[in-house]
Amino acid sequence: MKIDSPRITSFQPPARTLMGPGPSDVSSRVLAAMARPTIGHLDPTFVGMMDELKSLLRYAFQTDNELTFPVSAPGSVGMETCFVNLVSPGDKVVVCINGVFGQRMAENVRRCGGVPVIVEDPWGAPVDPAKVEEAFAANPDAALFAFVHAETSTGALSDAATLAAIARRYGALTIMDCVTSLGGVPVLLDEWGIDAAYSGSQKCLSCTPGLSPVSFSAAAVERIRARKTPCPSWFQDLGLVLGYWSGAKRTYHHTAPVNPLFGLHESLVMLAEEGLENAWIRHHNNHLRLRAGLEGMGLKFVVREDARLPQLNTVWVPEGVDEAAVRGRLLNEFGIEIGAGLGALAGRVWRIGLMGHSSRPANIVLFLAALESVLRS
Ligand SMILES: Cc1ncc(COP(=O)(O)O)c(C=O)c1O
Repeated sequence: MKIDSPRITSFQPPARTLMGPGPSDVSSRVLAAMARPTIGHLDPTFVGMMDELKSLLRYAFQTDNELTFPVSAPGSVGMETCFVNLVSPGDKVVVCINGVFGQRMAENVRRCGGVPVIVEDPWGAPVDPAKVEEAFAANPDAALFAFVHAETSTGALSDAATLAAIARRYGALTIMDCVTSLGGVPVLLDEWGIDAAYSGSQKCLSCTPGLSPVSFSAAAVERIRARKTPCPSWFQDLGLVLGYWSGAKRTYHHTAPVNPLFGLHESLVMLAEEGLENAWIRHHNNHLRLRAGLEGMGLKFVVREDARLPQLNTVWVPEGVDEAAVRGRLLNEFGIEIGAGLGALAGRVWRIGLMGHSSRPANIVLFLAALESVLRS
């Protein structure tokens, strides 16, 4: 043997309170569900659990869409699944950019051979419906419209109902990123007329990272069926994945992440037990608690009041304060993780998450006391 066995023992993660832009704290119920015995991914019992998962996701997304299931990969793959299936070479797509994740949507359109028509808004602002209307008026042949409902890089929430209605008037299908919004604020796919949506397991659903719930309307499915060129990704080709996730007889497509799916099932059961509306109210009330404390310390929010995400609070770093040093001390002395700014906001803001199981008064009291002590010293 050429390579000696490395002297490495079991990994023990430190105790942390996750108050950044995700992942959020995972409850012991979800962790316990994931520790249950692994079974085969085509075991009839497992297939029954998959069907329950689809029903639970339809509730979370508020949709009757038959094609609703978790992609076996993180939110970025949910994003790609929407674009590689819906965008064909030459398609025009109106894409809104008001932060990092809108930029990624535009890049997805380019890589699918589509032509992005960019609608830009400042980082920290929601998408401006008037600019979207202008973009469609100038490009009435655009087939698709894409926007980020909850921009995690800034903490801004956009008006999904108004935006999707504009696209519908121009006959375009809407793709919505609800990675950070699902479970934290209303996400009403059917009422708003959203045709394709993707989310993530690790934000307000408070499961572990690595799964991406997606949902497609009947119109989106029709568009996918009518493609003239095959979907460029084998793994994400919905026509193939569906043989595994739906129908009377399930066939092998890939080996599903069995135990993480137990975890997602449990986190969605917890959401259903709490009730969606109650989860939205909890996120809102805890945001108000955090906001009172932050403003009491003189900190200012980046996003205007009517577009603030309750689950992701972005504040300006006070003049003369070393933002990375504060984050480091919160982590090392108090075990609290918060997020730094990205892109245009790098080094200038903190992003404080109150997502899912992390959205609890005890976390807020701990964080405010810790931040005050660090800022004082
Ligand atoms: C709005 C948004 N979209 C997409 C993603 C990508 O998700 P993931 O990191 O799970 O791939 C994220 C992750 O933070 C996000 O916040």
